[in-house]
Amino acid sequence: MPTPILALRGVNKSFGPIDVLHDINLELHAGEVLCLLGDNGAGKSTVIRILSGVHKPTTGTLEMDGKPVAFASPRDASDHGIATVHQFGGTFPLMSIGRSFFVGVEPTKGWGPFKVYDRKRANEIAVKAVRDFGITRIDDGDRLVGGLSGGERQSLAIARAVHFGARVLILDEPTAALGVKQATHVLRIVNEAKRRGLAVIFITHQVMHAMAVGDHFAVLIRGAVAADFKKGEKSREEITDLMAGGASMASLEAEIASYMETHDGHPPPVAAAKT
Ligand SMILES: Nc1ncnc2c1ncn2[C@@H]1O[C@H](COP(=O)(O)OP(=O)(O)OP(=O)(O)O)[C@@H](O)[C@H]1O
Ligand SMILES: [Mg+2]
Repeated sequence: MPTPILALRGVNKSFGPIDVLHDINLELHAGEVLCLLGDNGAGKSTVIRILSGVHKPTTGTLEMDGKPVAFASPRDASDHGIATVHQFGGTFPLMSIGRSFFVGVEPTKGWGPFKVYDRKRANEIAVKAVRDFGITRIDDGDRLVGGLSGGERQSLAIARAVHFGARVLILDEPTAALGVKQATHVLRIVNEAKRRGLAVIFITHQVMHAMAVGDHFAVLIRGAVAADFKKGEKSREEITDLMAGGASMASLEAEIASYMETHDGHPPPVAAAKT
């Protein structure tokens, strides 16, 4: 097994008296997508915040390329090549595509006090980078980010991370607010990032999205890794049940189906449906 780009080793996280994560062990490999699954409050975002330098582990360590590493801040994590794309893909709705692409790293022309932001060059590079990812509807770097669809914004954020050399791409529910077509597009782009050799960690509540891109899956239940398996080792039903915290969706579905059979096709009233 090659050395993982990034790993959590025995990580625990508490906020005051509240223990949120228990002995988390996870590895991210180049060219692989790790899907982090689990119900609301399971601790997924907390894992992400540790990997992206927002929180420090209470105990346990992070390793990068097999060596212990501690991130002082999100900026520090990003300097180590860890790019985090949040749910709405960046927060610059009033900025142009070119500008937002180069926030903090603007290409300039001239020198010293005469340095100016090179709008034309920034636009060219940004538009080319997003088009290389197959987002061909973006052809004008002067367009405002706020005018892009949710999927296009996610795609822009991912293309930006890859362009600036990220090695690890962290996506916290990138497809949550998207329709089917846009979600599919984002999943394609995740696959492209993987093909380019990034290690991706992908959080979703949608099993089909996870199965479409995941090589490796980890299910968190109440802050602990309850299952850790590879593509093809579990069925959609088994993954769904794990994500629901072990409750069997299949038996719930069967119960509803048998009720409908004996009640003229009507679903059970809400009170009858077990939760
Ligand atoms: N700063 C904090 N202080 C105290 N408790 C926290 C803090 N951050 C998270 N928690 C708690 O840790 C648990 C896990 O939260 P987390 O946001 O990681 O869950 P999640 O798996 O991302 O859930 P969701 O699917 O709803 O986004 C929750 O019970 C939450 O209330
Ligand atoms: Mg979360």
